[in-house]
Amino acid sequence: MPGRSLLPAIFMLIFIIAVSASVTEKILQIPLLEVGGLWVKATQTATARVASVLTISPDLTSPWTYARAAILVWLGYLAWAFFWRPLNRVRKLGDVGYVAEGSFTTKETANFIQRRKKNGDDVPPFYPNGWFGLMESFYLKKGESQALNVLGMELVIYRGQNNRVYALDPYCPHNGGHLGVGGRVVGNCIECPFHAWTFRGEDGKCVSIPYMDKSAKIPTNAKVKSHITTELNGWIYLWHHAEGLEPTWSVPEVDEINSGLWTYRGRTEHHINCHIEEIPENGADLVHLGQVHGPVFAAGVDLRTMWSTFWSFAQHHWSAEWEKCPEPDGHIGVVKLKHALAIFGRMFPGLDLDVTAKQIGPGIVYLFFESALGPGVYLQHVTPLGPMVQKVTHDIYVSSYILPPVAKFYMLGEALMVERDIMIWNNKQYVRRPLYVASKEDKLVKKHREWYSQFYSKLDKPLLRKDNTLEF
Ligand code: FES
Ligand SMILES: [Fe+2]
Repeated sequence: MPGRSLLPAIFMLIFIIAVSASVTEKILQIPLLEVGGLWVKATQTATARVASVLTISPDLTSPWTYARAAILVWLGYLAWAFFWRPLNRVRKLGDVGYVAEGSFTTKETANFIQRRKKNGDDVPPFYPNGWFGLMESFYLKKGESQALNVLGMELVIYRGQNNRVYALDPYCPHNGGHLGVGGRVVGNCIECPFHAWTFRGEDGKCVSIPYMDKSAKIPTNAKVKSHITTELNGWIYLWHHAEGLEPTWSVPEVDEINSGLWTYRGRTEHHINCHIEEIPENGADLVHLGQVHGPVFAAGVDLRTMWSTFWSFAQHHWSAEWEKCPEPDGHIGVVKLKHALAIFGRMFPGLDLDVTAKQIGPGIVYLFFESALGPGVYLQHVTPLGPMVQKVTHDIYVSSYILPPVAKFYMLGEALMVERDIMIWNNKQYVRRPLYVASKEDKLVKKHREWYSQFYSKLDKPLLRKDNTLEF
């Protein structure tokens, strides 16, 4: 209904013109040019006043002088934080993507939905095989350790004095102390907080038991399992394989990040209640682009209200293709995405975005984009925190032509679009055999599923509870 959707926009335009005309011609009784002159004069006066305040020597005996200085510093800090500090938008489970049921809060509803989520009778494994992002490098400084629970495993990760990151099983074989809770990093090893047994990062072997008889030998089974990690592009990665196989591919470097050509401008983190495969499958799901991501991002993230006619004067347009790479890069899928924004039905090429998204294994996506202002990349990492809980992060790096506030705006735009997907993912079920219809769109989803199945071990069956839910 384009006629109806244009009505609010036309009304707003008439309103703005009417107000402008009244202010200039009717109320002030002066022509437009003179209004411009008045504005210039007013700006000059204001600038002169600010300059005189700044140059007057302050009265140091007055508390108002200090109060004014404090307010100025605070305002300066707020301005810096708003425009220049990297974005950090974190939305935990229940913060977005749920609709409160009855008299329950959104958080309570999120909890119910998570617990009663049906797995279906034939669900792929919850933890596929491949490299997974654990966290941004800046969250683990030299000598620091953290306890983690990812991919169905409990871990301790720490950064040794050699700057390498190690991941070990956290429970001490001596008497069960948790290495990640109070364990100290000693050189490149970690010391148990309970009785100070010390374990080596490379192989998890115990190398020191301080109170043991000098003549005794450290038992050969005094060790914990060590896991394979790597670190690049500002991220710490862990290799996971259900059958314990070694890595069969490596995480590719993004040269522009590692060379410092592109700068970090922010991150978002979302916790989502769905099977991991639902998230990358979005890249090959062309129909959802217009349906979920069509309304302009300013219309919000609530699927129930985003079609409001108020925002219908602007519309996102998407077109996309997906294909898998030939061997030896069979673990990579590529999405080519074109974005355009139409305002009042007119396209604005300056707002176009060309995106090439590389899906690398089951949980990593690099979204390279070309905008009118310059290039950049979003790094997306999906890491399972539990059977049906995913942590999804996006980090943005951009070229120096894109100023920090603009990069933060791009990051926010991406986050809002993802939050619409989250409302779908949180509330849907995983369907092993969707009801495909004859169309190139459904064929592509099927193709994506076939490609993704390479990351599952045949032996790895998901643990289903008795009633086929995650209820406990
Ligand atoms: S439990 Fe770890 S040293 Fe005793
Ligand atoms: Fe989407």
